[in-house]
Amino acid sequence: MADLKGRIKEAVSFIKSRSKVRPRIAIILGTGLGALADEIEADETVPYSDIPSFPASTVIGHAGQLVLGKIGGKKVVAMQGRFHYYEGYSLEEVTFPVRVMRALGAETFIVSNAAGGMNPQFETGDLMIITDHINLMGVNPLIGVSDERLGPRFPDMSEPYDRKLVRLTEKVAREEKIKAQKGVYVAVTGPNLETAAEYRFLRLIGADAVGMSTVPEVIVAVQAGMRVLGISCITDKCLPDVLKPANIEAIFKVARTAEPKLTRLVSQVIGRM
Ligand code: HPA
Repeated sequence: MADLKGRIKEAVSFIKSRSKVRPRIAIILGTGLGALADEIEADETVPYSDIPSFPASTVIGHAGQLVLGKIGGKKVVAMQGRFHYYEGYSLEEVTFPVRVMRALGAETFIVSNAAGGMNPQFETGDLMIITDHINLMGVNPLIGVSDERLGPRFPDMSEPYDRKLVRLTEKVAREEKIKAQKGVYVAVTGPNLETAAEYRFLRLIGADAVGMSTVPEVIVAVQAGMRVLGISCITDKCLPDVLKPANIEAIFKVARTAEPKLTRLVSQVIGRM
């Protein structure tokens, strides 16, 4: 098998043979952002299964595809369907599409997720603009052979989330009358939800929200020199002293309910980038 750089090149050549769009913005349509796909004037959709070296989706009926097109006049590439570490993918697989979207020309990376809210000020259904993160997955997507063509061996992480994009998103949220919190996202592997003691610990170390995605993709995006915007949808309250059993159905329902406002926020931000 070719090295990582070679496999990225192969995937990029294939995608370029399918679409003339040269995207500037890469988006993972994570939980809460699925409906953004409807905002894309699509030029082409490419199933992951057609793209050389792309991870194969393990979930039947959830094939996943790349959508290339425009939102608000801006050229974008969006991942419809993402890969999680808890599904059994390696972090190299989880983050491979980010490297491919970067190599297609994307300079900005937008990502969303569902997260448990540990900041007592947060309400279920709130959006949280991610200002920083803590990687508590115990693994790192950059472990392995280093290829300086993909980015530095020891990338700086002093500002993984672009401050200007945070400010722009806050501004757009105010204008659109969308409540937007700000905070630190901590990534764990899952797939179980946390114990009360774990939520207390995660709050204590400085996190406002917890989830099972995003951080590996952001680490790779930063290494590759992209500016990043991340938004969490707070789907449940995780207060250790009054913790109730997690209701996964309720979590998905909150995410679905928040989808229109998150979609509106992100499409407005893209239009004003
Ligand atoms: N923990 C981890 N991931 C989550 C949670 C949570 O409480 N809620 C939504 N995703």
